[in-house]
Amino acid sequence: MGAERSQASINGATLSWREAGTGDDVLVLIHGFPFNSDIWRPQVEAAPDGWRVIAPDLRGFGGSGPLPGNRLPMDLLAQDVIGLLAHLGVRRPVLCGHSMGGYVTFAVTRRAPALARGLVLSDTRAGADSEEGRQGRLKNAKHVHAKGTAALIDAMVPRLLDAGTREKLPHVEQEMRAVMSAASAPSVIAALLGMAERPDSTPQLRSINVPTQLIVGARDEITPPGDARLLARAIPGAQIEIIDNAGHMPGLEQPAAFNRVLVNFLNRVRQSQITN
Ligand code: MLT
Repeated sequence: MGAERSQASINGATLSWREAGTGDDVLVLIHGFPFNSDIWRPQVEAAPDGWRVIAPDLRGFGGSGPLPGNRLPMDLLAQDVIGLLAHLGVRRPVLCGHSMGGYVTFAVTRRAPALARGLVLSDTRAGADSEEGRQGRLKNAKHVHAKGTAALIDAMVPRLLDAGTREKLPHVEQEMRAVMSAASAPSVIAALLGMAERPDSTPQLRSINVPTQLIVGARDEITPPGDARLLARAIPGAQIEIIDNAGHMPGLEQPAAFNRVLVNFLNRVRQSQITN
């Protein structure tokens, strides 16, 4: 990927991020689990005109660390993102969170409600884990502790990608596996435990008062379009786009379609700023 990683000491950690593009308008891409900023390659490489794109590595992933302990609360990851933006002098960015990155985005908006000027929520959900979901995460954490990350990655891949992507676009699976394989076992465990204890973000949805775009793969099995529709109904004025021929990773599986929705939304945010 063209954009090199930069690093700074922030919030008691070393945080790393990628940057591309220039401009006063800023788009922040917050990755999901168990990825790092590399997963946004198709978006970073296509940084829209006039937008500065910043893709942080969440703590424990990519070049960011060390872990704060044996769990990674979504709130701590949110504090890191807020600290990074303060460090970079960024005010009023558009935040785009994918899956776990969406959980972090909800935590950012809880902690700093006036920070974002627009939200993109891709393949994510507001609700906390069910008891069954929590137990599943604990089981996976134990398994990774005993055997490493390879088996978890193998089990996740068919749920992350649409079957058509796997069959027709093998390079997508290859790239995604490479990013996942870079995650260490302790980071994967800490993120699983952090996600398992995240709070329900549903109550805050009604008070989101910035333009919001939901994006979801039509065949996402992890956070299906039904979850995005719930978000669209609860967030005032939110719009939803369903990306065909994609599972949980539309930004990587169908980057042209994903980027089109993203750029249209960014133009709308700019426009709303001018007319307000
Ligand atoms: C992700 O893609 O970030 C994860 O699938 C989210 C989750 O496990 O809830």
